[in-house]
Amino acid sequence: MIYDNHNRPITYLRLAVTDRCNLRCFYCMPEEGIRYLPKKQLLTYEEMERVVQALARLGVSKVRITGGEPFVRTDLMGFMHRLAGIDGLTDISMTTNGVLTAPHVADLAAMGVKAVNLSLDTLDRERFHKITRRDELPAVLDTLDKLLAAGIQTKINAVVMDGQNTQDLIPLAELSRNLPVDVRFIEEMPFNGEGSHYPVLHWTHRRIVDELRAHFPDLNKIQDPAFSTSAGYQIPGHQGTLGVIAAFSRTFCGSCNRIRLTAQGTLKTCLYDDGVLDVRALLRTGATNDELTAAFLKAFSHRPANGFEAEQKRDVVSESMATIGG
Ligand code: 5AD
Ligand code: SF4
Repeated sequence: MIYDNHNRPITYLRLAVTDRCNLRCFYCMPEEGIRYLPKKQLLTYEEMERVVQALARLGVSKVRITGGEPFVRTDLMGFMHRLAGIDGLTDISMTTNGVLTAPHVADLAAMGVKAVNLSLDTLDRERFHKITRRDELPAVLDTLDKLLAAGIQTKINAVVMDGQNTQDLIPLAELSRNLPVDVRFIEEMPFNGEGSHYPVLHWTHRRIVDELRAHFPDLNKIQDPAFSTSAGYQIPGHQGTLGVIAAFSRTFCGSCNRIRLTAQGTLKTCLYDDGVLDVRALLRTGATNDELTAAFLKAFSHRPANGFEAEQKRDVVSESMATIGG
């Protein structure tokens, strides 16, 4: 296993397969969308496979496929099958918005995909339309049904936005009553393609927990898995669990085991950094596996201690989560 300069193991890769998306979520993109990369600038599936193989040899055992929206990329399932065959990977998961996902759920389950995170910020069709600028709630709920029916471990990601969906916190949390889902509430980050929406963040992780506790007074803190970014809670009698992710407050950096590869092949060793290695350039100038490995090791030995340090070393954060890769 490889440890970084702060003694944290690097075992988890978040791999963005595209920067394109079929939704336009308020917290991720402006209404007109972002300027997408020309196709040639995206890594090919073969290039991604080579990078994952190299990282798996260094001890990365978990890969999460993200985007943009992964299913917008042609033949994603073909790539998923190849990923499933890479030695050393024990945990393959995916984050999706659920619009195009339902027809592939059975296949995902069959290839052993462990967990799927579904982005869902409201159960109200009108507010869903307003937040995502598309009227796709029924398709997303169909995906949720199919994931649960297939027995795939399912998490719901809801970004908490002042003035947009705070009335949805309790209805979303209620999903945990009869469904075995983990409903996670995420602090909004300024990754929306245009810069911060607020001078200060109103809905911090503390306020989210206070709001949940006001409605569910017997909310219990539960033990979190190692390296989890989510603080878990349970309500007695509920089948599922709740979680709160301090994505903006960054309380979890001390145990961060994750790295990211953007769709254009830039390595990020922190969500808040500006990109620390141009992997695509290495691949396309004929780097050997040893050269690739050496470049990764160098990047891992210069990781910032936390998201604040990473942010300080760069210009203002304004890119879209679809470019960063979730
Ligand atoms: N702030 C917080 N979370 C975000 N996501 C996308 N953009 C933001 C943002 N600006 C979430 C999505 C998705 C996950 C990968 O990141 O809801 O579930
Ligand atoms: Fe698409 Fe996800 Fe961004 Fe929404 S948050 S626009 S679903 S990439």
